[in-house]
Amino acid sequence: MTLLDIKGVSKRFGGLMALSDVSLQVNKGEIFGLMGANGAGKTTLFSVIAGHIPPTTGEVVFDGKRLAGLSPDRICRLGLCRTFQIVRPFAGLSVAENLRVAALYGRARKLSATEAAQIVDDALDAVGLADRRHLDAGRLTLSGQKRLEIARALATGAQLVMLDEVMAGLNPTEVGTMLDTLRRLRTERDLTFVIVEHVIGALMTLSDRILVLDHGECIAFSTPEEIGRNERVAEVYFG
Ligand SMILES: Nc1ncnc2c1ncn2[C@@H]1O[C@H](COP(=O)(O)OP(=O)(O)O)[C@@H](O)[C@H]1O
Ligand SMILES: [Mg+2]
Repeated sequence: MTLLDIKGVSKRFGGLMALSDVSLQVNKGEIFGLMGANGAGKTTLFSVIAGHIPPTTGEVVFDGKRLAGLSPDRICRLGLCRTFQIVRPFAGLSVAENLRVAALYGRARKLSATEAAQIVDDALDAVGLADRRHLDAGRLTLSGQKRLEIARALATGAQLVMLDEVMAGLNPTEVGTMLDTLRRLRTERDLTFVIVEHVIGALMTLSDRILVLDHGECIAFSTPEEIGRNERVAEVYFG
């Protein structure tokens, strides 16, 4: 079943076509990878999908609903949530308080204090941050901040989570843990992920299908095995 349907999306910034006629469908339960060199348009695509910037042409349909004109808050409450490449927790609030904010403001329905507390505990456990719940979020390590970003998405009750470079800057052990976490979340919670990652090995092992962007254009859309054999992709990545 198609959960996210991106139909002919283009985005122009002045004279620059950051995205040109990108179409893709993400199935429910899928881990969908988005690849491309710096400036390829990956973050722009996330921003269009999540409602942070309007597309110049084309449209995004999530769970059968057209998202055109909806604010990021509304889109989040429909169950589609993104993380940011530059993590930005509310510093000065504890890790748990950050998640409480996400639970209270990211959901369609009003929660009781008990429900919110339950959701926070659950999100902390899901990403392994339970022992840091009282720490000021601004004091988390990079790996901790990335996990908090994911936990925030979980706390909103998202069905589809878009992760923008959550493994960037992590060491190999931390990347391994992150891979395990994402796989577990997919199976245990029936979540769908769209991930952008520069750690290509990680993207290849994790993704069911991958789309490769180059200067805003889709140059390949296939399984990781075929992407690995694709000459155009090799050219873009390795020259
Ligand atoms: N708000 C913006 N205004 C103008 N140009 C932008 C804006 N955001 C991104 N761009 C440009 O669009 C292109 C794609 O950027 P981006 O989506 O951030 O790429 P990626 O995430 O793949 O590295 C780049 O050339 C970038 O400079
Ligand atoms: Mg980016």
